[in-house]
Amino acid sequence: MRLFACLAALLLAACTQASPGNQAEQAERPRQVAPILTGEAARDASSFARPELARVTHVALDLDADFAARRMGGTATLDIAAAPGAGEIVLDSKGLEIEAVTDAAGAPLAHALGQGDEARGRPLTIRIGDARQIRIRYRSGADAAALQWLTPDQTAGKRHPYLFSQGQAILNRTWIPTQDSPGIRQTWEARITAPEPLKVVMSGERLTPEGEPAGEGRRAYRFRMTRPVAPYLIAIAAGDLAFRALGPRTGVWTEPAMLDAAARELADTERMVTAAERLYGPYLWGRYDMIVLPPSFPYGGMENPTLTFLTPTFIAGDRSLVGLVAHELAHSWSGNLVTNAVWSDSWLNEGFTSYFENRIMEALYGPRRAAQEAALSFADMEKAFAEEGRNAPSTRLHGSDDPEAGVSGIVYDKGAAFLRSIERIVGRERWDAYLRSYFDRHAFQPMTSARFLADLRANLVRGDAALERRLMLDQWVFEPGLPANAAGPDPAAFAEVDRALAAYNGGGAIGAIPYANWTTAERLRFLNGLPREIGAEKLAALDSAFRLSQSGNAEVLFAWLQLALANRYAPAVPAAERFLGRMGRRKFVSPLLETLLGEGEWGRPIATRIYARTRPSYHSVTTTTVDRLIRGGT
Ligand code: BES
Ligand code: ZN
Repeated sequence: MRLFACLAALLLAACTQASPGNQAEQAERPRQVAPILTGEAARDASSFARPELARVTHVALDLDADFAARRMGGTATLDIAAAPGAGEIVLDSKGLEIEAVTDAAGAPLAHALGQGDEARGRPLTIRIGDARQIRIRYRSGADAAALQWLTPDQTAGKRHPYLFSQGQAILNRTWIPTQDSPGIRQTWEARITAPEPLKVVMSGERLTPEGEPAGEGRRAYRFRMTRPVAPYLIAIAAGDLAFRALGPRTGVWTEPAMLDAAARELADTERMVTAAERLYGPYLWGRYDMIVLPPSFPYGGMENPTLTFLTPTFIAGDRSLVGLVAHELAHSWSGNLVTNAVWSDSWLNEGFTSYFENRIMEALYGPRRAAQEAALSFADMEKAFAEEGRNAPSTRLHGSDDPEAGVSGIVYDKGAAFLRSIERIVGRERWDAYLRSYFDRHAFQPMTSARFLADLRANLVRGDAALERRLMLDQWVFEPGLPANAAGPDPAAFAEVDRALAAYNGGGAIGAIPYANWTTAERLRFLNGLPREIGAEKLAALDSAFRLSQSGNAEVLFAWLQLALANRYAPAVPAAERFLGRMGRRKFVSPLLETLLGEGEWGRPIATRIYARTRPSYHSVTTTTVDRLIRGGT
């Protein structure tokens, strides 16, 4: 596989260019242009881009957030590097309404939206001729999948509307016309206007913290990202936002009503950044801020650079779910510095990050909590093997091209188990030194499975044939199932819970279960270790002893509701309905509704009734998955 820097004429050594930009401060410093990978393993099946011909190096957005029309509209100005005589550039787009395409001087450029498909959208091909900067005037379509426009009623404050975006994996093409492929890194800048008093934040440096008057009761906010990033990492949120500093380079944005609770839960963040740096090298993105979004945010977290997006469901009051924050922070290295070039290698992002997350948790909270959380992850992997079938192709780390096809128990948990197994074999010191050097060597570059294995062989194995045999690298990455050298979970991690479970399952009394003394991880282990078939009387006793339906911990509540609903336990339905009505996180919504749908004439009517009511408040990421479930797909 060859590594191309800035294409053809531009060599690696000269991998920066002074590029004309919209803003004076941009023109001063040369911009970094990141290399792209060529070769079959780095071909992104989810993008129409043909970067070997012409690629985007920089995106400048000038957009108005139109809350009435629920659209982003304005211009995107793209800097391009092209092979001599390339003639055209192909961008990704989905539902975009293109109004005009011109060169930098305003001369029209011929363009066409080609044939596409439901998943990828449509290629936008532009005749660039000699132009190396193009301007697209456009607006996002109705129902752009990346964007959720919330009514005031869907916010905590109830007084102002709200907007947020979710780019990963291939949604940003619904509001940004660019090459939406993780291997084509781009620097970017943006000027966004929104109606007062809304504040706008983005996943880059904030150049105008207070905004600037933009006429007609609007304010403009400007941002820039001078490091080349994968385009799925461009993100925006706008709403009634307040900020609180947590440390010298960390802080949290959220609605004023949420600020105290969010800041309390996130109080350890600055220490997390320091711990992460101690492990794997300097944090290269400047600030690490977070935004706690309204409850319809469809994921737990999203690692948007300089500004992690978080679900409010991680707020448990006791910081027991801040593994999520460690995870998104870890992506600042694994994912945002070194990035999967194709979605079939998303384990390079998520598996590395799950491993790194656990190392941060160990540094902050000690080996016991880390061992417990790693054991939960191992159990999630085992569950995936049980569900998928041990030798199913879906249990390979290097997986399918479909960005939606990855099984989290594989991509995240088998991925983490792989790195833990290497650590166990070569020893922590040697492994940490390697991993740190891996992030250094490949910072701001795309990565593939093959490239990672080559790097590991060159820099860790170094021709040691015995070590090579012990590591079983190709089997881990390219074969289904679990290799024989897998490092198992610490048997001591849940010894007490497992003893209590055995006693209870053998007929012991509920009163003997020390649930009240347990950590969240222990409670989850307990709930997930109860027999899957369990009678109403026992469920009632568990619910009343541990107040499970009232739990303020979303993970505990979810584990309980999964068990209760799978056993058609009617008294849990109101709690399930409340939960499904107050948040839209796909990881919780989809399995709960799936469980109900699986309970035939008892559960299906409940699921359809609840979903009819809650669907309008969910993000498209969640509704797309659940609609498929309801229709009876997989
Ligand atoms: N990057 C992911 C979220 C994601 C993955 C979005 C794939 C779209 C496609 C994020 O870092 C993540 O993994 N979030 C998890 C939390 C984590 C603690 C496992 C989530 O949302 O639950
Ligand atoms: Zn992740």
